[in-house]
Amino acid sequence: MYNRAVKRIAVLTRDCGGVNAAIRAVVRTAAAAGLEVLGVRRGYEGLIDGDFTPLDRRSVSNIIGHGGTILKTSRSERFYERGFQEQAAANIRRAGVDGLVVIGGNGSLAAAHVLASQHGLRVVGVPATIDNDVPGVDKSLGGDTALNVALDALDKIRDTATSMERIFVVEVMGRKSGWLAMQVALAGGCEEVLLPEKDLPMETVFEDIRAGHALGKISWIVILAEGKANAQDVAAAITGATGLETRIVVLGHIQRGGSPTAADRILAARLGHAAVEALQAGRADGCVHLKNGAIEFLPFSEAPERKTIDIEADYRLLRILS
Ligand code: F6P
Repeated sequence: MYNRAVKRIAVLTRDCGGVNAAIRAVVRTAAAAGLEVLGVRRGYEGLIDGDFTPLDRRSVSNIIGHGGTILKTSRSERFYERGFQEQAAANIRRAGVDGLVVIGGNGSLAAAHVLASQHGLRVVGVPATIDNDVPGVDKSLGGDTALNVALDALDKIRDTATSMERIFVVEVMGRKSGWLAMQVALAGGCEEVLLPEKDLPMETVFEDIRAGHALGKISWIVILAEGKANAQDVAAAITGATGLETRIVVLGHIQRGGSPTAADRILAARLGHAAVEALQAGRADGCVHLKNGAIEFLPFSEAPERKTIDIEADYRLLRILS
């Protein structure tokens, strides 16, 4: 816990649905408390370069419904090097910033932990990732928007799938996490889902399709999580084993963009506000999140190593309903 009052804060982000709404909440909460705010442009790259821009109430007008991040962002390779971490921390101090809000996923929050635990900065995180895989956090910002964007695309794909005798393999984002794939598959009423967290012999999938086809079923949608396999390979294997025509759709980055859903905007408002309040209360080196409807502060040191999703129950449900 820190006792010194916070006077000037900075905010740094990655991009996904609801991040702009969270920036707005941070800036306006800070303004209401008489604090100054600096935006860090281009994520950790901008922190290393000292690329800061002042933000006031007006600079966040009308961004609540916009996707992406008004601050721009990056993946920073340089931040892995201690020298650049020190440079980033020095820039923050030189700018008179005494509290930093980091809005992002596991990479961004790990870097936030480094700044707080090794460089003495007061940093509070807001979990924001379409993978919804932040350890100890039920719901990250951006997950709901990505799910709805993917579902909208899926409903359109289903129109062709059900009109033609065809199998679609639809790849959704998630290199290490099958959360989005599982949710989309359930929400879209899909027949099969292939997840990094689950070993499913492809022969089971082929057999299922053959059996369904023998009974007159003509279309299937197989959701594939990005990190599980290559969509082209999966489609070729299905066609090879079943003789049925297969098409692939890779949804890619459209899932990270788009206007945030109501749920993400509200989560952004709560978490952005809570992050500033946490800094004012002297908290640091952790993130704010919602647990059973209430804001909690989770110190990074107390977070579990990884978030494991319990997919078996959802997977069984998917198979029963498909
Ligand atoms: O972590 C969020 C995420 O969108 C993943 O789902 C995806 O695997 C990855 O980022 C893509 O990263 P990039 O935008 O750097 O290609």
